[in-house]
Amino acid sequence: MPPATSVSTPVLIAGAGPAGLALALTLLKNGISVRILDKNLEYHVGQRAIGTSPRTQEVWNLLGVLPDIKAASTTPKPVSVYKLPGGREVVKEVTIKMETEPTPAIPYWHTVILGQEHTETILRSHLAKHGCDVELGAELISFEQHPDHVTAQVRKVQDGSTETVTCHWLVGTDGAKGIVRKLLGLTFWGETREEHQQLLVDLHLKGLNREVRGFYLFIRPTEYNDDSFNMIGSANGLDITKIVEDPKELTAFVRASTDRDDIEIGKIKWISQYRPVQTGDGKIPNIRMVNKFGKGRVFVAGDFPAGGQGMNSSIQDSFNLGWKLALVEKGLASPYLMSTYNDERLPVIAKMLNISTDLFDRAIADTADESAWDRSGQLLQLGIHYRWSPIVIDERAEAGDDLKSANPYGVTGGAVRAGDRAPDAPGLRGIEDLDATTSLFRVFGPSYHTALIFAPRGEALESLLAALKRYPMKALRIALIVPKDGAVPSTVNVDLILSDEEGHAYTGYGVGNDGAMMVIVRPDGVIGGFLQSAEGVGRYFDRLFGTSI
Ligand SMILES: Cc1cc2nc3c(=O)[nH]c(=O)nc-3n(C[C@H](O)[C@H](O)[C@H](O)COP(=O)(O)OP(=O)(O)OC[C@H]3O[C@@H](n4cnc5c(N)ncnc54)[C@H](O)[C@@H]3O)c2cc1C
Ligand SMILES: *[C@@H]1O[C@H](CO)[C@@H](O)[C@H](O)[C@H]1NC(C)=O
Ligand SMILES: *[C@@H]1O[C@H](CO)[C@@H](O)[C@H](O)[C@H]1NC(C)=O
Repeated sequence: MPPATSVSTPVLIAGAGPAGLALALTLLKNGISVRILDKNLEYHVGQRAIGTSPRTQEVWNLLGVLPDIKAASTTPKPVSVYKLPGGREVVKEVTIKMETEPTPAIPYWHTVILGQEHTETILRSHLAKHGCDVELGAELISFEQHPDHVTAQVRKVQDGSTETVTCHWLVGTDGAKGIVRKLLGLTFWGETREEHQQLLVDLHLKGLNREVRGFYLFIRPTEYNDDSFNMIGSANGLDITKIVEDPKELTAFVRASTDRDDIEIGKIKWISQYRPVQTGDGKIPNIRMVNKFGKGRVFVAGDFPAGGQGMNSSIQDSFNLGWKLALVEKGLASPYLMSTYNDERLPVIAKMLNISTDLFDRAIADTADESAWDRSGQLLQLGIHYRWSPIVIDERAEAGDDLKSANPYGVTGGAVRAGDRAPDAPGLRGIEDLDATTSLFRVFGPSYHTALIFAPRGEALESLLAALKRYPMKALRIALIVPKDGAVPSTVNVDLILSDEEGHAYTGYGVGNDGAMMVIVRPDGVIGGFLQSAEGVGRYFDRLFGTSI
């Protein structure tokens, strides 16, 4: 065996799917360099996860990749259900509901459709701007934890040589069959329901025009502008393994399920089988989910062994982890912050599994009606919140609120609370540059906390600001929001002053025209605090930066 070489990187990321790529980009945007490995010799091919939720789009917005995602993606189309036998007569058109009302608070209001292969390509192009490339053919095989570092063994798939990588942190974004969870000994509970496997194929088809769509065999034209289609089949008694191993079986399956002999199967680009995440009968929490997202200096994010929690949740895991890791790596926060990754994400993932199982059960039930096609409401993920988190403070919170039992997917509408997603507010005008209008979504960023100060009468402004100045200013951006035509203090030490021309900021954050409020928006676009007093500001940042836990 060739001699092992030693290199060093602050963070080693094993697995370059959506979770690993999103984590790498978050860390790079925070000025933390990373190495990201994938054992595959080539990048993923395949449509796989195609729906990007509005909440995931907000992550892409913060990371600066949303324009590229939007430009490449398509919007959901109605589904035509064909009559069998015959397979030519459309019996109904179903619109899959994947949207909510656009409001000033919600600029991304519908799900967009983009094959996972393209989402990943776009993310890699953004990593490249930071000089970071995915190292292909590099497999993490083992690691050892030490008090202040981790040593990882990485095997080069092509020649079998190994490299020892020392790093401060290791994150396994190594997917459903990943090794990191196994080596950490993180436990799982529950079982999967093997019978609900799906056949997935990306292929060229002749005999179908791109207007044609189907269900039990679901056929969808992809964003490639040719005769490429993405097919999902889930017939009862289907031997998917056989079809995957011998694609000739596919022709028989397509003919049988469409009753059409004029459909010609062309080149198969990618074929696979997939088991959507399922819980069992709902009696026990038999979700095959990790009961912890990390140990010591090693964490996991993204898919777990049940076969895929979905891309949206994987990306949101990574985004929650990334900024915390960056603050700790920079020495600004204590390692305690890392435990809040588990505190915040575990209940969300548990609820996600519950929702997706119920949904799947309804969709395959004989009694399935239009409601089984509803992908709106909480599925848009705009209601996901961390109100129970130990690092979230709402000084307005009513005593006795039962936050622990709150639905982690939340309710959409209603008053915004600390722990919720921070709403957007357009129509803001810079005081220094009167012509420029902006929105809060352009003010927030993934590498700093934004302190929005609403102090319409100037009261308490100085004491709130003074309380902030004790903390690392490079981790903060301070924006004073004044009401339209409101008085602007002549000397005030903030990063920007914005006039709320249309009132969306004051309304959206539920701040009245009296009193003073500091709203802290975290790097992940979550409201960390509604703070009314200098004491509250101190409590919030002492917890965050770990001087008092
Ligand atoms: C075959 C298949 C079909 C799917 N179809 C759908 C679908 O139709 N709809 C849907 O919503 N979702 C689907 N999913 C799920 C969706 O793709 C995942 O939820 C999403 O990819 C999760 O991203 P991830 O980054 O956590 O994991 P992955 O995308 O699985 O990425 C993990 C990466 O880690 C790499 N890796 C593993 N072990 C190591 C190691 N030891 N060292 C280095 N690298 C390693 C792997 O090569 C892989 O590239 C499908 C998944 C699969 C596997
Ligand atoms: C989901 O949760 C609800 C309420 O807690 C429960 O009634 C239902 O059985 C759960 N479903 C599954 C599939 O676990
Ligand atoms: C992502 O979220 C959208 C919107 O809720 C949903 O339609 C899609 O199926 C989800 N996809 C994944 C892979 O999570």
